[in-house]
Amino acid sequence: MSTKHANPQSEQPLILAFCCHYCAYAAADLAGSMRLQYPDNVRVLRLPCTGRVEINYIMAAFERGADGVIVAGCLEGGCHFQEGNLRARRRVERAKVLLGEAGLEPERLEMYNLSSAEGGRFAEIVTGMSERVTRLGPSPIKPDPEQVKSGMKKMDQEAQAQLAAAPSGCCS
Ligand code: FES
Repeated sequence: MSTKHANPQSEQPLILAFCCHYCAYAAADLAGSMRLQYPDNVRVLRLPCTGRVEINYIMAAFERGADGVIVAGCLEGGCHFQEGNLRARRRVERAKVLLGEAGLEPERLEMYNLSSAEGGRFAEIVTGMSERVTRLGPSPIKPDPEQVKSGMKKMDQEAQAQLAAAPSGCCS
């Protein structure tokens, strides 16, 4: 599956979806193979495990121009690195508090758990999140379009570096 690239200058909100390689990314891939429709303003970033999604990485996504962020990993009990998705959920909850303190709606961030077979559910999740963030409007901390473009490039590079560096036990 090719990574979707949202146009940061469009009217649509920019949604970043951090997807673990084993389940959520596979579900996104399946949604693509099934030709399921979902918004093209969702940019999928593949990570070894959601356990790699640190709070500062989530906050950087917003600072670099995301209007909404999805963290999507394996079903609870199904993480290939045991507890990566549980750590991710705790971090997402803490990041929601930080977003509120920074003046952003915590609803701009959400964590989901799904299996690799749930292509249809992946499409529903990203569609629902896109609709939610559209209702909320643009992020109040969104930088200018050029900065968004370079910020998204950095997000891509960092995700690729995490994948390349992932050994068999990858979660911090
Ligand atoms: Fe999927 Fe850890 S490998 S959340």
